[in-house]
Amino acid sequence: MHASVDGFRIGYTDEGRGPPVVFVHGFPFQREVWRAQVDFLKASRRVVAPDLRGFGESQAAPDAVSMERFADDVHGLLASLRTGPAVLIGHSMGGYVALAFASRYPRMLAGLALVATRAVKDTPEAAAARRATAEKVRAEGPRIVVEAMAPKMLSPGNADAAMLAAVRGFMSPLTREGVIGALLGMAERRDATGTLGRIDVPTLVVTGADDVLIPPAESERMARAIPRARLEILPDAGHLVSYEREAEFNRLLAEWLAPIIGP
Ligand code: MLT
Repeated sequence: MHASVDGFRIGYTDEGRGPPVVFVHGFPFQREVWRAQVDFLKASRRVVAPDLRGFGESQAAPDAVSMERFADDVHGLLASLRTGPAVLIGHSMGGYVALAFASRYPRMLAGLALVATRAVKDTPEAAAARRATAEKVRAEGPRIVVEAMAPKMLSPGNADAAMLAAVRGFMSPLTREGVIGALLGMAERRDATGTLGRIDVPTLVVTGADDVLIPPAESERMARAIPRARLEILPDAGHLVSYEREAEFNRLLAEWLAPIIGP
């Protein structure tokens, strides 16, 4: 499905009925990365999953896309679907977006799941490295990002070739503009640490114990700072914990959701 949000074409999935559970993908993915969760929940829940601006079926912007801009797009989509308050689930970059959404639209938030993500902004070195990658993508195309990132999405001990192929599939299609816009947006993103204490909804902070992209210590720090947080660190799981440990992740999500939006 497609909607026009702020004059941009946004691709999205909207299945099932009831209060919405909204899945926001990470970088450099698109909404299909949540397929297992959408299929698992849609019989009992309304599930919405947008492609962020510049990814999947969503139109790209020419410049840096801030986390606030992505959050505004998610909010604009929910407004156009007239969903009412949502439980937002954000993975990694999607978590940066979910934290921006929580700050900007607290009344539209019924619950928050922060998956393999962090509140801190980039260090100057990390921001410089992202800008350098953006330049490389401008010159060589977005596949270099797939080559660099796909192997880091699963736990280091996981040699399952089919899983790695699936991870690469979730990173397609990619456009130069989409990848550059998100890289530059992440490089300039604000530190959200100071906003955590104001999050006033049930919050699930979950990550994989073997995440090599964002250390689990970041999740522990966020969970300590968010008043109604529950922390879960799943063993034998890397950065893309929702895919690598799909069954455990889905069970956890369903159990956590039940008291928030009903069984
Ligand atoms: C992601 O999975 O969204 C990225 O690893 C986030 C990042 O690069 O900070």
